[in-house]
Amino acid sequence: MESKDPLLDIINLNKYFPLRSGIIDLITFKTSKKIKVIDNINLKLYKGEILVIAGESGSGKTTLAKLIMRSIDSDSGKIIFNDNEITQLRGKELLKIRSRIQMIFQDPYSSLDPRMKIFDIIKEPLEVHKKKLSKIEIRECIESNLKKVNLDPDEVSNKFPHMLSGGQRQRVSFARALVLKPFLIIADEPVSMLDVSIRFQILELMKKLRDEENVSFLYVTHDLSTSQYVGDNIIILYKGQIIEQGNIHEVLLHPLHPYTKALISAIPKFNNVEKINIKNDVETCKSGCKFLNRCLYSSEECMNTEPTLIEANSSHSIRCYNYKSI
Ligand SMILES: Nc1ncnc2c1ncn2[C@@H]1O[C@H](COP(=O)(O)OP(=O)(O)OP(=O)(O)O)[C@@H](O)[C@H]1O
Ligand SMILES: [Mg+2]
Repeated sequence: MESKDPLLDIINLNKYFPLRSGIIDLITFKTSKKIKVIDNINLKLYKGEILVIAGESGSGKTTLAKLIMRSIDSDSGKIIFNDNEITQLRGKELLKIRSRIQMIFQDPYSSLDPRMKIFDIIKEPLEVHKKKLSKIEIRECIESNLKKVNLDPDEVSNKFPHMLSGGQRQRVSFARALVLKPFLIIADEPVSMLDVSIRFQILELMKKLRDEENVSFLYVTHDLSTSQYVGDNIIILYKGQIIEQGNIHEVLLHPLHPYTKALISAIPKFNNVEKINIKNDVETCKSGCKFLNRCLYSSEECMNTEPTLIEANSSHSIRCYNYKSI
């Protein structure tokens, strides 16, 4: 279960992407403007925790995941993983850390090489990171990890990905991630392409791996209704900023930010949350709160100064001046 040691500590993390608007920009790869996609993110993920990251499309969830994986570089800030700062690591040092942070992607159809058998797909990371293992040890490792994700090695090892169901394929992705004994798995929408009936089985698997294999999870999802079932804490991202965070039950049952309230009140299961409206204007204001153009509750303060994330109580933080009156 969740401990008091942070496995991942992110401090003031920022990432900009170039905003290429015209054809000339695209051809010349030049641009004058940049867009801030990750905006001063601070977060801690504790050992044994399943931390849910939610937010609308384009809010920066996958970019945050890629920054933690170090598949892209940040512009400023620190990423501390397992007490080591990994923000600037390169070469062998980075490769070592990569084996401890694994990623599961949304699409189990394209994330597994269709030309490789399941056995070889799971063997691949071992060949890169565990070169000293004997053939027997490799086979044992592959088989035991297939069993951990409830797949029968005799049944699936010699099959190609297209011969498996979507749920089985996603289990193979988990087995491939597990062979390197990761401390953290980042699962980016791991169930959204699966049939509703098997989504829960994959979420169950995440909980089982957390409990039995001591893996922590960063679980990126749009699906707030099922996130409560699996998550411990939740972060709501809006335009690259954390706008609300805390204990998942607390945030989903008593959301404070108008954006979170609108998201949650749209889910039939959460009919206790009062329905509130937000505007469709997604343009970001030049100053003040990033949510200003969509908010029906803004005051003068919201226009002038960007709100900071403040504690509403010990397990719930919020970035809004007026949350008490909404
Ligand atoms: N390589 C890139 N170059 C330029 N802009 C990018 C790049 N990758 C992402 N972006 C922009 O960064 C923003 C955040 O994208 P990101 O993929 O992180 O969103 P997301 O929250 O994962 O969305 P979704 O829910 O649709 O997966 C978007 O505005 C996107 O257009
Ligand atoms: Mg994404």
